[in-house]
Amino acid sequence: MIRKAKMSDVFEMKELINSYATDGCMLPRSLDSLYTYIRDFAVMEDNGKIVGCCGVHPDWEDLGEVVSFAVAKPYTRQGNGTKLLEACIEDAKTIGLGKLFVLTSSPEFFKKKGFTEIKREELPWKIWADCVNCSKYPDCNSISLIKEI
Ligand SMILES: CC(C)(COP(=O)(O)OP(=O)(O)OC[C@H]1O[C@@H](n2cnc3c(N)ncnc32)[C@H](O)[C@@H]1OP(=O)(O)O)[C@@H](O)C(=O)NCCC(=O)NCCS
Repeated sequence: MIRKAKMSDVFEMKELINSYATDGCMLPRSLDSLYTYIRDFAVMEDNGKIVGCCGVHPDWEDLGEVVSFAVAKPYTRQGNGTKLLEACIEDAKTIGLGKLFVLTSSPEFFKKKGFTEIKREELPWKIWADCVNCSKYPDCNSISLIKEI
């Protein structure tokens, strides 16, 4: 089941996201930032357990960012990431977003979903504020991709 995230999901979302952050393929999230930005998120639930989450954070004009997108390992490669992303895209459209970008170390998944690579310099200046505050800056290996929705 895919639904909007609730405050009570935050602990499990943090565990899921940070399990991949430990591997180095995602940025960690704090409880505080998940509580604050909970409205950005959809979750996938199986038997009462959170097995996936994906956020779309509005950035500038009609542009939003896909953030903290993770599917628990036993649930990957079964179409679950696709369903979560599609749910987030539909939600993004309801607030007037027309384009989504992502900074990711898994570009192949996003290319399969119609995202195309762009130079980070083409993204609005606003995202650089997050970049310079990131622990990986300036040695970041993530790829920027964008899609019209
Ligand atoms: C990326 C992620 C969310 C994909 O979830 P998923 O449930 O496996 O995705 P799906 O099963 O819907 O896969 C859709 C397609 O992408 C492919 N795919 C999935 N992950 C892939 C990866 N890491 N590399 C290449 N292809 C990938 C699948 O094989 C599938 O291809 P197909 O349509 O030709 O069969 C999941 O692997 C994950 O949580 N990864 C770790 C965190 C991460 O990298 N998040 C994204 C950055 S924010």
